[in-house]
Amino acid sequence: MRDKKTIGVVGAGVMGTGIAQVAAQAGHPVVIVDTDAAARERSRGSLEAVLTRLVEKGRLAAGGDDEILRHIAYTGSLNDLGDCALVVEAVVERADVKEDVFGQLARVAPEAVLATNTSSLSVTAIAASCDDPGRVVGAHFFNPVPLMSLVEVVPAMQTRGEVADAVCGLLESWGKITVRAKDTPGFIVNRVARPFYGEALRLFDEGVADVATIDEAMRTVGGFRMGPFELMDLIGNDVNYAVTESVFMAFYGDARYRPSFTQKRMVEAGRFGRKSGRGFYEYKEGTRRPAPSGDMALHRQICDRVVTMLINEAADAVFWRVASPADVDVAMTKGVHYPKGLLAWCDELGAGTVLDRMRKLSARYGEDRYRASVLLTGMAEDGGRFFG
Ligand code: NAI
Repeated sequence: MRDKKTIGVVGAGVMGTGIAQVAAQAGHPVVIVDTDAAARERSRGSLEAVLTRLVEKGRLAAGGDDEILRHIAYTGSLNDLGDCALVVEAVVERADVKEDVFGQLARVAPEAVLATNTSSLSVTAIAASCDDPGRVVGAHFFNPVPLMSLVEVVPAMQTRGEVADAVCGLLESWGKITVRAKDTPGFIVNRVARPFYGEALRLFDEGVADVATIDEAMRTVGGFRMGPFELMDLIGNDVNYAVTESVFMAFYGDARYRPSFTQKRMVEAGRFGRKSGRGFYEYKEGTRRPAPSGDMALHRQICDRVVTMLINEAADAVFWRVASPADVDVAMTKGVHYPKGLLAWCDELGAGTVLDRMRKLSARYGEDRYRASVLLTGMAEDGGRFFG
């Protein structure tokens, strides 16, 4: 069974442990490196528990858990990665730590493709800290890794073409769906999804509707699994705010990504969401959620505005060559479970309708935040479509 190449994982946190599990279940021997012995213990414990549950549920053959665990080795030293064909780095999201790891990886794993799971740093800058940057590539997994099929593969400026192809092929053999993204802030998902939160917060800040009504509108009219506020509470307002702020700063303060003071105050107040017992909603036992407004015209107004901003963002990502239209739609449906691809949605509504809505917002507010993507404008003028 284990004739497959050895995979190295650096960082035994939530992501590294998930990546190791998926590689091991695909039949690879895996070596996990973490400098913290307690983190290695926690990772092993959580893997044991997860694999035992898979056996209990019949998703893994009896004894399959022990077989997989026998082929996962834990170590504190990068020097044990010498035999690896691929090393995936998933250490803390700090440029200095990642650059130190990549500084050593080219030497300790001379044959390996080197992937980083960074979600907000420049893959190009990380690659530059490695003596052989041509074999460094971004491989951005989603949490929880065993359940989320999407991986954004992000070539750095220095990455050799065959390296990105090889990583996509390998990840697909593990059952993952890969999309290619340019090395730009937020890649595809964390960029294109910003208006889902940002425009919802804006509607709330303007007093257009309360959070329960905005959530209800996005669920019932838009078909999203969760509304923006309940999703921010689930992700954690601290985490969601940090991503928004990082994308905003990485885009040199582009008004489209400006964070909301409301969310900042939520973080300052410790209202992180579910994990702290209170966010936009209360999570104490027996607390009932406020009832949404039943005004259907308001629901539609809310949903139209958020979806328009999402489509504009998706079109702009295509305009800037961040990804192909097909990959943008796959990323948003697989990475954040949108009910349909935003660009397919644009085709359905017609680029002219979306542009018209953007122009109305722009005329009303006069803010750069509401500028229409050049691609959307061109498509509306030419009657173009993204697909077919
Ligand atoms: P985590 O904090 O749970 O785990 C990081 C692990 O790295 C810790 O166990 C730590 O001991 C270890 N570590 C730190 N320095 C190290 C070094 N020099 N050598 C070896 N191990 C070292 O972090 P998490 O959430 O697993 O994230 C890891 C990476 O994945 C980050 O880059 C993060 O941005 C990215 N990511 C996280 C997602 C998430 O939802 N948590 C989603 C997608 C990407």
